[in-house]
Amino acid sequence: MLTVSHLRCEYKINPIGLDMKSPRLSWKLQSDRRNCVQSAYQIQLSLTESFELIEWDSGKKNSDQSIHVELDHWLPNARTRYYYRIRAWEVAGDESSWSDTAFFEMGLMGSGNAWKADWIKAPFDGETDVSCPRFHRLFDLHKSVTSAKIYVTALGLYELHLNDRRVGQDYFTPGWTSYGKRLQYQVYDVTDLLQNGENILGAYLGDGWYRGHLGWNKEQKIFGTDSALLLELHIRYTDGSEEHILSNPDWKVATSAIRMSDIYMGETYDARMESNWTNAPTENWSPVDVLDYTKDIIVAQENVPVTQIEHLQPIALLTTPQGDRVLDMGQNMVGWVRFSIQGEAGHTVELRHAEILDHEGNFYIENLRGATQCIRYTLKGGELETYEPHFTFQGFRYVKLIGFPDDVHLNDFTGVVLHSDMERTGNFTCSSPLVNQLHHNILWGQKGNFLDVPTDCPQRDERLGWTGDAQMFVRTASYLMNTAPFFTKWLRDLEADQGEDGGIPFFVPDLRSSTSEGWGNTNHSSAAWGDAAVICPWTIYEMYGDVRLLAEQYDSMKRWVSYIHAQGDNPYLWNTGFHFGDWLGLDSKPDSYIGATDKDYVATAFYAYSVSLTHKAAEVLGHADDAAYYDKLHDNIVAAFQDEFVTPSGKIAVPTQTAHVLALQFDLLDSKARNRTIDQLGKLVADAGNHLTTGFVGTPYLNPVLSDTGHHNLAYTLLFQEDYPSWLYQVTQGATTVWEHWDGIREDGSLWSADMNSFNHYAYGAIGEWLYRYVAGINTDEHQPGFRIVHIEPKPGPGLEWVEANLETMYGPVASSWYRRENNQMDVRVTIPANTTGTILLPGAEVQTVLENGKPLDQVSDIHDVQTQGSDVRIVLGSGSYLFIYKVLEADQEVHAQQVESV
Ligand code: BGC
Repeated sequence: MLTVSHLRCEYKINPIGLDMKSPRLSWKLQSDRRNCVQSAYQIQLSLTESFELIEWDSGKKNSDQSIHVELDHWLPNARTRYYYRIRAWEVAGDESSWSDTAFFEMGLMGSGNAWKADWIKAPFDGETDVSCPRFHRLFDLHKSVTSAKIYVTALGLYELHLNDRRVGQDYFTPGWTSYGKRLQYQVYDVTDLLQNGENILGAYLGDGWYRGHLGWNKEQKIFGTDSALLLELHIRYTDGSEEHILSNPDWKVATSAIRMSDIYMGETYDARMESNWTNAPTENWSPVDVLDYTKDIIVAQENVPVTQIEHLQPIALLTTPQGDRVLDMGQNMVGWVRFSIQGEAGHTVELRHAEILDHEGNFYIENLRGATQCIRYTLKGGELETYEPHFTFQGFRYVKLIGFPDDVHLNDFTGVVLHSDMERTGNFTCSSPLVNQLHHNILWGQKGNFLDVPTDCPQRDERLGWTGDAQMFVRTASYLMNTAPFFTKWLRDLEADQGEDGGIPFFVPDLRSSTSEGWGNTNHSSAAWGDAAVICPWTIYEMYGDVRLLAEQYDSMKRWVSYIHAQGDNPYLWNTGFHFGDWLGLDSKPDSYIGATDKDYVATAFYAYSVSLTHKAAEVLGHADDAAYYDKLHDNIVAAFQDEFVTPSGKIAVPTQTAHVLALQFDLLDSKARNRTIDQLGKLVADAGNHLTTGFVGTPYLNPVLSDTGHHNLAYTLLFQEDYPSWLYQVTQGATTVWEHWDGIREDGSLWSADMNSFNHYAYGAIGEWLYRYVAGINTDEHQPGFRIVHIEPKPGPGLEWVEANLETMYGPVASSWYRRENNQMDVRVTIPANTTGTILLPGAEVQTVLENGKPLDQVSDIHDVQTQGSDVRIVLGSGSYLFIYKVLEADQEVHAQQVESV
């Protein structure tokens, strides 16, 4: 039976508030038969859920496309909900019934003039009182309502309430964008929150990223000085009429119980000042001021919203040697603590947040620098009261309790984990508990640092969208979760913040003023950081088949490459300007921030890489002239690179692991130099006692390069090292997230300098890509992106007996597992989703010995092709689940036995 399910519009389930002309639809097919390929589909759109009147019908359309389908010759109307359903036919003749119905709803679909409301602000805003203003508007309803939607945004952060109920489940709205150029609005369906008679609509405003503390220079008001609200409530009545409640001078405003709220600093709340919206004493509320501020920069919500994703209970209440009472959440997490307390009115309690305890077991906050992340709560007294913050988040595992009663209970506290609500897509488990913990830590690095913007870290006074970190981690992140909407939004900000000369700021959204000191006279365009402009859209294209995003970012990619081209005298080398180099590499002076790899070398290597990806993008997008130009440019850069950095006899002149890794990964060498470099990389790793010395730039590519160049066992050796420096060192030290430094906590218990020592930095978590792509072997195909062709090439190695991994792709679930059984038996299980093709590599197999579900391969009719490839077997097959069992070739067995001994 064929079914169509998982209907998505622009990656989202039933999105409200889209502003594009041509929303794309995607679906998944399921069949109980193997080899399911779609031959045709039909999409119907209707204004009603019952499909009485069809608004648009594709008819039966012969096509195998099932992701990112645009609706031909159809344009949506603003503020309109479209229901859609899909059915499909498959090549083998099966026909599905209609899918369940899904919907998408358009937003205001206009530029600034679509908004009739005024920006409103508190007249006392900016005075010494830093409390969060509280706005409200009363209105009466006397007719029956069909639907009601709120369109809303803010300068700052907003939290809406309608008739004493919080509107929506989203936090940190309207999100963080390059505020001067782009500001998102959200749409909420509030039909069910309205009531007959009097209604009260209210909003709190917080400073947020817009004008709170941001950057390490203790600056505020980076994007603007006034916080303000812009809101429209559109009510449709059953009689066909419509009424709009707009933010305008009819609103009233007062100070609130949220006495202070700041992303870095935390929140101060006085519950004695709290009141419901319905019984608030409003006599003394002031009329609002209208703010003259543009509406032309407002865009619909692009990213998935930040929500409360999960809730953790503390695992212990400790008393430190210094006598502090400290909760241990058991996990370095990002979000806040919700707590319940009973006590006297006016009593204040405080929560401080830290990532680690120091060597002695004391509460350690020095590495937070200027970010106090402190919650202060003053009780209203009487009943049990429960509180959680509004406009701030903390990065922490430990919470110091100050002023709490002696008899606190663990279940009075809940860790609320907040991040962008991305669909979880990847799972990986294996026979090594330490590697499983590493995978867990990588995942939590993503949770903590994908709070609307990809940040370096979530705790100290930084939390910025560092471009380099994002490009290093983007592919790992896209294995773990669906990151397409997240990066779509961020890349639009990147483009918005791109300089006229094509330069890319160090972080996006950019805070120019905050970075004017500290990095010399430049605050943009470091190699391997600015290259995020090219690497990120290309990766999203590969992982999700998103050609539209690639087309949208193409100009930005080109401008970045042109920027590099224009630097210095030689257009084919990049040997000028400021660069972060192989940031935190270990091969330089002790405690140095910058690794030993020559910065010009790194810059030129990434120049070549970005040009090669721009060339590929030109080909995908059909820009033949550009493709020819970038091809030639790439040749010239490679020639210049070789001239400058490779000796005539083929030796790389920069003797670091990172230099060797980059040359191999980016394919910058002729075959003689390549072979020499492969040998030399092996020696460099051996010379370091089979340990890595790489920093931010080299580490993400290290294990993939080793696996690709015949050093696969060495890659496993590096994975399994447990002493410093290694991925598992921090795991054995009890880490629950990935550290910024290989030696954030040293073997003797001492700490890296507090000026830069985060314990939740995802960059080195880029090893996650190697776990999925090499160890489990799940890979996409750049010519058939989005896993239209699924490559499964498991790479077993010494130290692992089994691996199980799966990935929810745009087409459906991909799975890859391998198990080394007794007597050299290998079991490989794979799942290939409907409407895709799989190519499976069985390592160390001989065609004659392979059984699929007990049958020799030549008797399995669903298999398209089988080939012997060296000591492996390659099988091409259609969708379905397969179990291959075979005896590993003797030669392979011996190698394995030696490997196991040497580990
Ligand atoms: C950040 C990094 C970032 C770096 C620039 C640091 O302060 O935390 O992750 O990439 O600066 O090299």
